[in-house]
Amino acid sequence: MIVPRLIERKRNGEPLEASELRELVLEHAAGRVPDYQMAALLMAIYFRGLDRTEMNALMDAMLDSGKRLDLSRLKTPRVDKHSTGGVGDKVSLVLAPLIASLGIAVPMMSGRGLGHTGGTLDKLESIPGFRTSLTLGEAEKQIAEIGCAMLGQSQEIVPADRKLYALRDATATVEVIPLIAASIMSKKIAESLSGLVLDIKRGPGSFLPELADEIRLAEAMIDLGAQHACPVVALVTAMDRPLGYACGNALEVAEAIEVLNGGGPQDLIEVTFALGAEMLVLSTLVPTREAARAMMDTAIRSGRALAKFEELVVAQGGDKGVVGNPERLPKARHRAEFVAPRDGVVQTVDPRAIGYGVIELGGGRRNMEDKIDPSVGFVITAKPGDRVRSGEPVASVYARSKDDLEVGRLILGEAIVISDSAATSLPLVSHRITAGEVESLA
Ligand code: URA
Repeated sequence: MIVPRLIERKRNGEPLEASELRELVLEHAAGRVPDYQMAALLMAIYFRGLDRTEMNALMDAMLDSGKRLDLSRLKTPRVDKHSTGGVGDKVSLVLAPLIASLGIAVPMMSGRGLGHTGGTLDKLESIPGFRTSLTLGEAEKQIAEIGCAMLGQSQEIVPADRKLYALRDATATVEVIPLIAASIMSKKIAESLSGLVLDIKRGPGSFLPELADEIRLAEAMIDLGAQHACPVVALVTAMDRPLGYACGNALEVAEAIEVLNGGGPQDLIEVTFALGAEMLVLSTLVPTREAARAMMDTAIRSGRALAKFEELVVAQGGDKGVVGNPERLPKARHRAEFVAPRDGVVQTVDPRAIGYGVIELGGGRRNMEDKIDPSVGFVITAKPGDRVRSGEPVASVYARSKDDLEVGRLILGEAIVISDSAATSLPLVSHRITAGEVESLA
């Protein structure tokens, strides 16, 4: 294999053979193709795309770069949820323990921050001691014992995605349907699931702002699932504003704990319950989404879901004190309020500006080697459509220094637009996509 020749062919718009893509992905995962060549190929793919055959080959190669979880001993169904990436999206932190507390196994393999979006692994690692780098054996044992595990790609499990994911993050090559589909589905198929629910983010804060592209992405992943006997249901959810209030790793963990305690922002609860209901129906535990919602409600009110989160934190080496007292999470040294500059109606809260803002404050990576500061970020309580008065607090900045507080305030000033009338927001959950059907819910 002559890698520059493959890059040249893709750059010129020619398809690559399945065997060529496979060799390239496996050689890169093994460290025998350098990142700079892979980065060049990713950029060529960004502009030229991959056809279905190439996407399937990419996904299979990524999957075969490691081993799969062996959960065959489990008697329970195994379901998971994965998001295409959002800002303030801490749904996974709530859903994994919530669904596991109802007796369904949730083997959840997640990612780190990607582009302007946050990553579940980074959020979890803001809990002191929490370990996301589980071995295959540790993950299998933990899922058998407590019903869930939240882990990252590793040398053993989808190592190809681990490397490609980090490389795409650092080279602005995220927003490509076949790359997203192969990245997500290689992780999910490696989990040996009996069902998967996808949260396809829609709007300017998502990787694919056009609805037609989001539907194409969902259909591609449903197709990949079908090839591996994994039924997939996708919901399209709004990402034209951040989800919930908190944006930033430790701040989001605190907000997820609030939801598990029966509180939290309404939009976050709604999206979490919509996705959770699909998981429970897919698992066949309940026949209807209404029954599923009632079950999740009881699990939260009874404290079972929060207790399962505590079990998860303990199992993965985290400080369980955080669960009862989120004040123990890393705290930013400086905090300042941001107030509405005028009377009016919140027109937009730009999720992309907020996501990049978190990175700017140190809560995300600018390059692959960066260490992140889990304590920084924003809490934005204003939502599009809210009427506000001049001087009213609408958000807070959490920062490492006084200078960064100013940076944060400037970011909020750009991201939060207040005018005389509100723009129309996207429905929180707008479409449900299954094999062969796109249902409008709004
Ligand atoms: N989530 C993933 O795991 N991969 C992507 O490419 C995008 C979101």
